[in-house]
Order: sequence, then structure tokens, then C-alpha cells
Amino acid sequence: MENFAVFRTPKTILYGRNAFENVGTEASQRGKKALIVSDKIMDSLGIVSKCRNLLEEQGVQSAVYLGIASEPTDQYVSESLEILQKEQCDIVISLGGGSCIDTAKAIAVLATNGGYIGDYMRERKIASNPPVPHISIPTTAGTGSEATDATIITNTSSDVKMMIKQPAFMPEVAIVDPLLTISAPKNVTAATGIDALSHAIEAYLSRKSHPMTDTLAVSAMKLIVENILTAYTNGENEDAREAMALGSLQAGMAFSNSSVCLVHGMSRPIGAIFHVPHGISNAMLLPAVLEFSKEACVERLADLGRIFDLNNESLSSKEAANIAVNSIKDLCVKMNIPNLKGWGIDQSTFETVVDKMSVDAVESGSPANNPRIPTHDELVKLYHVCYNYQFSVEETVN
Ligand SMILES: NC(=O)c1ccc[n+]([C@@H]2O[C@H](COP(=O)([O-])OP(=O)(O)OC[C@H]3O[C@@H](n4cnc5c(N)ncnc54)[C@H](O)[C@@H]3O)[C@@H](O)[C@H]2O)c1
Ligand SMILES: [Fe+2]
Repeated sequence: MENFAVFRTPKTILYGRNAFENVGTEASQRGKKALIVSDKIMDSLGIVSKCRNLLEEQGVQSAVYLGIASEPTDQYVSESLEILQKEQCDIVISLGGGSCIDTAKAIAVLATNGGYIGDYMRERKIASNPPVPHISIPTTAGTGSEATDATIITNTSSDVKMMIKQPAFMPEVAIVDPLLTISAPKNVTAATGIDALSHAIEAYLSRKSHPMTDTLAVSAMKLIVENILTAYTNGENEDAREAMALGSLQAGMAFSNSSVCLVHGMSRPIGAIFHVPHGISNAMLLPAVLEFSKEACVERLADLGRIFDLNNESLSSKEAANIAVNSIKDLCVKMNIPNLKGWGIDQSTFETVVDKMSVDAVESGSPANNPRIPTHDELVKLYHVCYNYQFSVEETVN
């Protein structure tokens, strides 16, 4: 840790069952007309019309953008920004998974700062004007994006998932209502749950971790480890959904103020090129990357192992670190996570892009935060290991 650390969060966070009912009140304190950034699935579940009604009850008008049909691209950003401007909206409300939230973050900043979203990558352009107030409402648990100052948008010309991180992208308000996640199907629950777990683990292992982020990361790891399988197998279980929503929020705050590391760095190119959902591509990588990193972070991985194996106080750090890796493999098996080959990625296509993926991973900046920083050749090798990874105890990296 340097001499001091900075910790940023949304100005207001409402969390818990029925927090969503307050969206009208929060919006009416910030503007007169909201653009709701959502998708057709949320609309078909009646959540978008419920949001509009709650806004109307408090005298807030609304317009809607429902064009998000995949993880966010620069095209969704320009389409939704156009509606925001045409409809003269003075608030943005994201209602959906990370894809809706990240799109909304981008337009909230672009509306007042201008330019192309990619200009803001690696702080080439700084958003110095305050963004349009953004109320983020996640329906997955989750990306934690409701409480992070990052947005990830695919550049459709270069097939790069651009990682953009600046304080202006932080939503002003986060409303985290676990009841909104009940309808998430099994595959979404698995992908987003592992994403949240990856955030907590990477925030804790990161070279940028500090005591404030450690507290949240450890709490998030506990909540997620103890509840992820129940939420997956019994999605109606409100207690498990509530714990996952809270864990995801805490993990988001942790990594936003610490960082993500090698898993996310390697995951984004898989998403950009092969369109694998973000949480699934993280899960494909997580156990192998932890094995690769283990020697450089035995004590911290051991803390995770002790969360998985609560009753065993006599474990050495090395044994506990191994339990952490093997327990993650086991989780992946129980939640039917495929390897890249099993997802249907053609081997010869994979071979032609693995070099570009390794370069793009490093370019995102995240691998440099990992306890063990890979060389280019090690990255290429790790991608190959993950292509055929078996998630079994016998499987080893190095
Ligand atoms: N900005 C950040 O800090 C951050 C962090 C992690 C991930 N991300 C980004 O978030 C995106 C992924 O978000 P995601 O994993 O939440 O998935 P998503 O937003 O892409 O949603 C996946 C699918 O689940 C559906 N869905 C969402 N909630 C539902 C519900 N309650 N009921 C039924 N269906 C539901 C959506 O309609 C969609 O079809 C990626 O682009 C990733 O890069 C951003
Ligand atoms: Fe993530």
C-alpha cells in the first residue's frame, strides 16, 4: 500500500428486499425525465413498466431504451445516447444486468463530456464535467457494476472489450434489491455468481488491495461461497438471493477500489472475440489462474480455503490454499461450467487469435495487478491450458 488509499462508492446505496420501490423518490430528487436503459427480457418480466409507474407516482417522466441484446458495444452507447438527447432526459436509470448498467454509465458521462467512449480508456481523455445523475439497479448478482467506477464496452471495429475506469463513471445511486434477481435463470445465476466471486477473490489477491477493500472482499467471499450453490439450485430462495446480492455489491466496491487481476484480463478477449458471457469466461479461467498464481499468494489463498473448509482449523497455509483451488474447480463442475473447447470454440480459430488475446489481455492493465505477473509466453500457455481444462483435482498448471 502507498501512504494513503482512496475509496469511492456511489453517494447513496439502498439495498435489501423492496429497495426498488424507492426509485421514484430517488429520481425525483435529481431530475424531471429519466431514460431507462434496459432490455427486452426485463420488459417482458414487467420490471420496466413497474419502474415507469414508480417514477410517474413521484412526478418523473420517462423514456425507454431496450436495445441491449448482448454485452455492451459502442453501438448501443451511441443509440441510447441519441435517445437521451432527443428526449431531453436529465437522469439515467439502468435496470438490468451489467450490460445495461455499463451502457448507462457510458452515456451519463458522454452526455456532458462528449467524444467517443473509447477516448476515455486508459485516461487518454478525462471526464471532468459531472455526468448526468445515474441510478443503477442491478437484476443480476452480479457484476457489482452498480458500485464501481468502471465500464466495459466492446469496440466493434477492433473486437476489443475496452476497460474504462474513471471516477465519473460511478453511479450516483445504487438500488440493490435481491427480489429483482429471483427471475434470473440458472445459467445467468451461475455466470454472474462466479463473476462476483472472481471480483472478491481478485480484489483480495490484487497488488492494489488495502485494508478497506480487504474487509469487503473477505465478507463478499464468505457470503458468496456460502450461498452460490443454493441460489443456483433453488433460485426462489430469497435468503440466498439476498446474500448473493449483498456479496456482489461488496465485491464490486472491493475491486473498484483495489482492482481485478489476471482472470479478468484474460477473460475480456474471450468475451470480445468468441462472445462467451463474461461470468462464464471468468469461470473457465479462475481455477487455472489461481493455480498459476498460488506460490505468490499462498497466505491469501489460504484465507479463501479456510472459508470453504470452516471446520478445519489445523490446516497449513499450503493445504488451505490447495483447498481453495480445488473447491473452485468443484463449484465449476457443480454449475456445469465448460472449458473453451466444450463451449464450442474451434481449435484452429483459437490458435489464430491466442496471440492477439494475450496482447489485448496485457493492454487492459489488469494482469499487472496479479500476484504473479505472466510473461507473454506464459499467457499463451495458460490460454492453451484453459482451452482443454478438466476442472479435476488431478489437473495442474505450470
Ligand atoms: N463495470 C463493471 O464494473 C463490470 C464488472 C463486471 C462485469 N461487467 C460487465 O457486465 C456485463 C455482464 O453483465 P451480467 O453478467 O450481469 O449479464 P447481462 O447484463 O449481459 O445479462 C445476461 C442475461 O441475463 C438476463 N437477465 C438479467 N437479469 C435477469 C433477471 N433478473 N431475470 C431474467 N433474466 C435476467 C439479461 O436480459 C441477459 O439476457 C459484461 O459486459 C461485463 O464485462 C462490468
Ligand atoms: Fe467481472
